[in-house]
Amino acid sequence: MTPCLTFDVYGTLIDPSDVTRQLRALLGDQAEDFYLRWRDKQLEYSFRRGLMGAYVDFSQCTREALAFINASAQTGLDAQTQTQLMDAWSQLPAFADSAAGLQQLQQQGARLYAFSNGSRAAVSALLEQAGLADYFVEVVSVETVHSFKPAPAVYEYLLSRTASQADATWLVSSNPFDVLGARHAGLRSAWVKRSDRAQFDPWGLEPDLQVASLVELAKRLPD
Ligand code: 2OP
Repeated sequence: MTPCLTFDVYGTLIDPSDVTRQLRALLGDQAEDFYLRWRDKQLEYSFRRGLMGAYVDFSQCTREALAFINASAQTGLDAQTQTQLMDAWSQLPAFADSAAGLQQLQQQGARLYAFSNGSRAAVSALLEQAGLADYFVEVVSVETVHSFKPAPAVYEYLLSRTASQADATWLVSSNPFDVLGARHAGLRSAWVKRSDRAQFDPWGLEPDLQVASLVELAKRLPD
């Protein structure tokens, strides 16, 4: 059977830390810390909204997280600057290995899907501008389920879209909570450890594979 590989988007295919470039011009040395707090808060808001059953578009989590961090760090970014920072999320670049890894995996006969908390429209446009859109059969978004990763329902929805069995479907993600969510739902999963500082949660549920890049994934993925 053709292997079915599904890819997380923000942090796995596409590099959200690129917004730090814009933040550096505004905040200098505080930029990296601000970005890390913004990203953590964005995800926290998605987790909380998933638990509450209070779904909103993922971009709202991002925007409200920016407002929160701006207030708590007292950085005083005005509304126009916050809008510009939000716009940067639609222009993020692919990681250097993304295209080469996807191309190799496609040549090996895998069916590739993008799978994200982001809306289908936002993710499709993002992958298009980053030059990755053509590798995918489809962009699958949690928006149809009205919940967020790692709710089991979003992985079940992913399986229904890909028409594949859980144990024959891989979720490839740099986000440990996503890898754990997929493993918990019965999928196989590869953790892309994109930085030396990245750490996996000690929950006793391990990724099936750990790689440093998508090119390494293409070499090591079992047949
Ligand atoms: C994504 O779903 C979680 O940001 C991650 O693309």
